[in-house]
Amino acid sequence: MSEDHDGHIPTPDYSHLDSTDFERVYEPSEDTFILLDALQSERHHLATQRPLICVEIGSGSGLVLAFLARLLSKQEQLVCIATDINECAAQATRKTLERNRVVGDVIVTDLLTSLSTRLSALVDVLLFNPPYVVTECVPGSRGLESAWAGGERGRHVMDRVLPEVDRLLSPGGVFYLVVIEENDPDEISSLLETRGLTVKRILSRRAGRERLVVLKASKLRDFYHNYLTN
Ligand SMILES: C[S@@+](CC[C@H](N)C(=O)[O-])C[C@H]1O[C@@H](n2cnc3c(N)ncnc32)[C@H](O)[C@@H]1O
Repeated sequence: MSEDHDGHIPTPDYSHLDSTDFERVYEPSEDTFILLDALQSERHHLATQRPLICVEIGSGSGLVLAFLARLLSKQEQLVCIATDINECAAQATRKTLERNRVVGDVIVTDLLTSLSTRLSALVDVLLFNPPYVVTECVPGSRGLESAWAGGERGRHVMDRVLPEVDRLLSPGGVFYLVVIEENDPDEISSLLETRGLTVKRILSRRAGRERLVVLKASKLRDFYHNYLTN
């Protein structure tokens, strides 16, 4: 898989996953593809940043992390880490990374629980397309429902990640988050901004009844942050 003349990276191959897999693993959908498009539009920024450690929370099929790795394939060194609470999703991610010749570690865990301390201030790119759908109940299972059901305001899972982002990001690190309008992107942005991050909506698009938004939260390098705040 190589980029075309405009620097466009093709969608990674996930033809090894079939309808039986997608009974247990989140099938790439509009929310997945908006994140790929957002990353594609960020390629110059990402190339300049030269990230070393890239982490995706809730990797599902593995398509997004495989795409990011291909986008950064000119770099000599890249560490890709994926987590998912669903064992079948972790297996699917492993297969997708392998199929697209991406080396990465895939860990079955709740968010970043088993890694969080070790990754403090080290994550250059953090990705999360969370379960964002507004639902009455929050699923207790690790099955397919937990891929999309987000409880009240669709925020049940993502709200556990937001307070951790500034601690996880390296200086200059970036966090890309997929949300819908019902999740209240402005409030999410404020929450991240109160923790010293700079937040922008970098892409938004209607998909059926949903208005999808990709937020980008950046951690300024300390000297730049001090310059702006003093
Ligand atoms: C909307 S799907 C996105 C999947 C994939 N990243 C994509 O964009 O197609 C959300 C993913 O998050 C995972 N997930 C849900 N709750 C999680 C948690 N507490 N910890 C880790 N992963 C979780 C689900 O299993 C699912 O794979």
